Amino acid sequence: MIMKSYITTPIFYVNAAPHLGHAYTSIVADTYNRFRKIAGYTSRFQTGTDEHGDKIAEAAANSGVTPKEYADRISRQFQDTWPPLNVEPDNFIRTTDPKHIAVVQSILQKIYDQGDIVFSDYTGLYCQGCERFLTEKELVDGLCPDHKKAPEEISEKNYFFKMSRYQDWLIDHLKNNSDFVTPERYKNEVLSFLKEPLTDLCISRPTSRLTWGIPLPFDNNYVTYVWFDALINYLTGLGYSPDGRHADLFRDFWPVAEHIIAKDILKPHAIFWPTMLKAMGLEPYQKLHVHGYWNVDDTKMSKSLGNIIKPLELVADYGVDTVRYFLLREMSFGLDSSFSTEALITRQNSDLANDLGNLFSRSLAMVKKFTGNQIPEPPKEMTELDEKLKRRANKMIVSVQRNMGDFSFNKALQNIWEVVSKANKYIVENAPWTLAKDPDKKERLQAVIYNLLETLRMISLPLHAVMPDTARKMFDALGIDAEPDFASMGEWGANLKPGTDLGEVPPLFPRLEQKRKTESEAQKRGDSGKPASAAQEKRKSASPKKSGPAPQVTFDDFLRLDLKVATVKAAEKIPKSDRLLKLTVLAPEERTIVAGIAEHYEPEQIVGKQVIIVANLQPVMLMGVESHGMVLAAKNDGKLVLSSVTDEIPAGSKVA
Ligand code: MSP
Repeated sequence: MIMKSYITTPIFYVNAAPHLGHAYTSIVADTYNRFRKIAGYTSRFQTGTDEHGDKIAEAAANSGVTPKEYADRISRQFQDTWPPLNVEPDNFIRTTDPKHIAVVQSILQKIYDQGDIVFSDYTGLYCQGCERFLTEKELVDGLCPDHKKAPEEISEKNYFFKMSRYQDWLIDHLKNNSDFVTPERYKNEVLSFLKEPLTDLCISRPTSRLTWGIPLPFDNNYVTYVWFDALINYLTGLGYSPDGRHADLFRDFWPVAEHIIAKDILKPHAIFWPTMLKAMGLEPYQKLHVHGYWNVDDTKMSKSLGNIIKPLELVADYGVDTVRYFLLREMSFGLDSSFSTEALITRQNSDLANDLGNLFSRSLAMVKKFTGNQIPEPPKEMTELDEKLKRRANKMIVSVQRNMGDFSFNKALQNIWEVVSKANKYIVENAPWTLAKDPDKKERLQAVIYNLLETLRMISLPLHAVMPDTARKMFDALGIDAEPDFASMGEWGANLKPGTDLGEVPPLFPRLEQKRKTESEAQKRGDSGKPASAAQEKRKSASPKKSGPAPQVTFDDFLRLDLKVATVKAAEKIPKSDRLLKLTVLAPEERTIVAGIAEHYEPEQIVGKQVIIVANLQPVMLMGVESHGMVLAAKNDGKLVLSSVTDEIPAGSKVA
């Protein structure tokens, strides 16, 4: 059976140059695509640019060029960014491509003809940044939570897609397909959103307001709403045709489609898109993988906030594999992460230069010195230490495959680095430099060297997905010219060729000085000579007011508190209370906690989150609900922020 895989990134808006956030999603998609190929799949990876709509028309007008000229320029920047990052898509799609436009129009016509698109009056709150109407519930303090701007009230006649017709089907689909949206917190977010009736989706913009879009085939006074056009890229890139005369690509790859996005565009992907597909008579995509944000100074990276990290500058400064490794190792998929060059340099020095780089150079130096620079024969006998290393390496390949398949790239890299560290320990335990002094230990020395080379080979196999250049260097150094493949190379003893001459071995990673820092990091510490940002000033003025230290407690007093990590399963407002939310949490048993956070969090914002609770607080009745515990939160200037853990951990884990 031929196993297939189709992986996509969002198509990025061409209103601004590529930044680290775009690069992260694309590196994840590329890594997964490479991983699938190593696992024997025929895998296809698509990315591209989203080129219509208000944002692009506005950016072009500000630059004094036509929208198409502007789109061409920025789309080119995206296309030029991927090769230096070793991001290798099979297809780069642009929504201004005439083939895409024709497919979007025929889909619109088909859905219109079947009565799923209707014309009606509408008044709504429109956010320019999101390019969509927002519901009152989505606003935070009257502002769009992503763009921090008040939406504009717009009234006009428009065309609407009858999304509500497919709401029940979508709820069932989400419930019956547990990994349709992952990680689970995002599936819960979608389900909680679907508790309210869906409003129909406005899919047109009058040409009096916007002309930069795909004309509606049934009314040329309107262009298509950019999201309706953009989502269809996932089909047009496979040669889909609404008349059923599809390209083979569509037949082969659509059933295995997996989309990767960040949480900013969860709603269009988890609600608009499946209902659109259903209306088209197509099966929905297989999986939606949702990641968190890369933040700088605790704020999402974005052009409008001026805290952009440019991926090509990072690659020029630190090298492509360091950047890829850092992004995948540092972020727990689904949760937010903070970017800093200090953290990147630390990872490079400790994980790459020290752990992996040293293992590699020490092992190959021994081959040069003790075995005539040739791969020795495999040992006839294995000691307990040898067997342990072998078992670990074999187990690592299995765990890495499971974790990469689950998008737990940080865990997969931890699996690999456990073996790196065991192999470094194996060198110390076997003291090859001492063995070399004793002619009677020659055979043992050769065995140790063979085992180290074999371990390096096993380590380099999954690294082909994450750090293709480094892994290729390692394969070359070990005399392997075949393509990486788990099936034929994934077990100890698979394909080192004894007697192979090893050439000169390049160092894998240089050590870096902790001296570079991004401008924003420098500003954060106030050592750049530049004025602090508004956000910094705000943070400074918001520093906690001290109200005198709390009385000291003994360690035993502290131990009396049962602090645990709990996952919020459900949340709802308590009627007649402005302050209280009723939370159902898992810790790991299910319990109800009443929390005074309703003025700071909407219920759907916290479903799926992990919080820290005091689990052994005496139960109390609050507004008629029995509360079993307390959620910890930090307070500053009257604002509450829930406490949490930096990495996902099983619910019920003890906090000590
Ligand atoms: N054009 C739409 C997507 C249409 S897909 C049919 C769009 N474009 S975007 O340029 O704004 O890209 C958003 C995506 O860029 C996010 O979903 C994510 O993949 C990536 N990121 C942008 N900023 C990011 C961070 N700060 N952190 C992580 N990823 C980020 O939305």
